Amino acid sequence: MAGRIPPDFIEHLLARVDIVDVIDKRVPLKKAGAEFQARCPFHTEKTPSFTVSPRKQFYHCFGCGAHGTALGFLMDYDHLSFPEAVEELARDAGLEVPREAGQQPGPDYGPAYQVLEQAADFFRARLRDHAEAARAVEYLKSRHLSGEVAANYGIGFAPPGWDNLIRALGQNPEGLERMRVAGLISEPSPGKTYDRFRDRIMFPIRDPRGRVVGFGGRVLGDGKPKYLNSPETPVFHKGRELYGLYEARQALREIPTLLVVEGYMDVVALAQHGIRNSVATLGTATTPDHLERLFRLTPEVVFCFDGDQAGRDAAWKALNTALPLLNGTREVRFLFLPEGEDPDTLVRKEGETGFRRRLEAATPLSEYLFSKLAEDIDTGTLDGRARLSEAARPLIQRIPPGSFRDLMQQRAGQLTGVRHTAPARAYPRPRGTVRPRSASPPSAVRTAIRLLLEDPALAAQPDLPAGWRQLDLPGVPLLAGLMDAAVRDPGITSAALVERQYGTPAWEQLQKLIAAPIETPEQGMASEFSGALLQLQQRADDTEWQKLTAKRLSDLSDEEKQRLRELQLNRAR
Ligand code: GTP
Ligand code: MN
Repeated sequence: MAGRIPPDFIEHLLARVDIVDVIDKRVPLKKAGAEFQARCPFHTEKTPSFTVSPRKQFYHCFGCGAHGTALGFLMDYDHLSFPEAVEELARDAGLEVPREAGQQPGPDYGPAYQVLEQAADFFRARLRDHAEAARAVEYLKSRHLSGEVAANYGIGFAPPGWDNLIRALGQNPEGLERMRVAGLISEPSPGKTYDRFRDRIMFPIRDPRGRVVGFGGRVLGDGKPKYLNSPETPVFHKGRELYGLYEARQALREIPTLLVVEGYMDVVALAQHGIRNSVATLGTATTPDHLERLFRLTPEVVFCFDGDQAGRDAAWKALNTALPLLNGTREVRFLFLPEGEDPDTLVRKEGETGFRRRLEAATPLSEYLFSKLAEDIDTGTLDGRARLSEAARPLIQRIPPGSFRDLMQQRAGQLTGVRHTAPARAYPRPRGTVRPRSASPPSAVRTAIRLLLEDPALAAQPDLPAGWRQLDLPGVPLLAGLMDAAVRDPGITSAALVERQYGTPAWEQLQKLIAAPIETPEQGMASEFSGALLQLQQRADDTEWQKLTAKRLSDLSDEEKQRLRELQLNRAR
């Protein structure tokens, strides 16, 4: 892999491609006025609210809020990293991606992916032809798995013996090193190496692009440890990967719900019964990364943990992890299984219909939260209700401001009779109070940036003030940079302006700004833009005036005196 992609190239690339073509190839679009529409590929909907603007070179879904440029679309839709999306788009446009020299090239994990793929092939083949494969096949049959599901999930067999895989893939030093990086060997002391996985049923773990990144291996029977997982490697992070996610995506075009279960066997048993939208964490708790990954594919996540104390603890933990990620479009529910059951045993007992019926009746997060808190509180008393209210408050505060938090607050009020703080925006700020200092740009900066994203040509108006550039305020350097880029490159699209910032904290902010609706009519934009800059200019002048007047007159240089006179004149106007 090579160095950084120059930002100029990204601009050039975005100028060459049309977002409408890029998206239309994957999600057929229909013309609607000046824009194009489709049913949103990122959430389930009946009427199209996914809109593509050829002028802005930007897409936006009014239903789920998904938005971005052609590059952003490829990243989300095809699950690509930024450089991968650039490569993909460049290939379509017939361009070669240049790389900046003079930088340390990133490490190349290609060989690790390759050896993991080879290992998966090896394990699959041994399930068919090894002298002891019959035992493995027998075991899978005893767990009611069909050959079809086993093939779908790429299930294999690591035969007994210390070095089957090493003999196949690690015969030379490079091969052995690849296996080491990929987490396929155990090395109790340097130079002493053997196969990590021996005499186990092998579950390959794939990343969202379908590349094998690790394995889970189960003993055939009751040995210990029951499961052995790949260690953390440069390509495998348990806190991020989910078993079955790739397979679910392959099986389903639209994913209205994803089910999170505890074990590999739960995922494959559910698939065996036609329930193909389940994923499992890899023996760890659900992380925010997991949830973000899931919510990129579906609006609803249902946690379904085992019907034991550990399962119930995991559910409460998952609730806590989910709270800060909940917005109006995301939903979380919980399916509690009868004591002693896991999804695998239950779906075999009750079949697809029975299990789906339970899924439909899964408990909404809000209900679970209040009933869990009320478990050891007597809510029949006034005192108990006050305690419930107190217990709920910190949890509700972790939900991002918005309609869902408001609803939870209302619900808390109904249940406890205690009014939780209403959302801040219900109370207008009293006049004259000081706004708390925050790192977000002042509104004139935001306005200017928002308008510039709507129409980059605004930066080329004559006689725009420039003194505001010295202001030490959040967003000012960004605004200045955007204006420079727009002036230097007339005809630059909004999308290219945004993508220039990729990898900086401003990028996220710009994405949101460009997707936000704009109220100014087109003919008013130029004057609103220069008005915002003038407002900033005045602020800069004020600051300078204060600085100059704070000095004694005798300390001012001639130049400073001249400047002070100008400023005073302006202030008098
Ligand atoms: P079966 O007993 O085959 O039905 O397994 P299961 O998939 O139901 O697994 P279980 O509920 O016992 O455990 C859930 C998950 O925790 C497994 O899928 C593994 O990821 C992990 N796990 C379970 N046992 C072990 C173990 O001994 N070691 C490690 N590292 N992980 C384990
Ligand atoms: Mn089980």
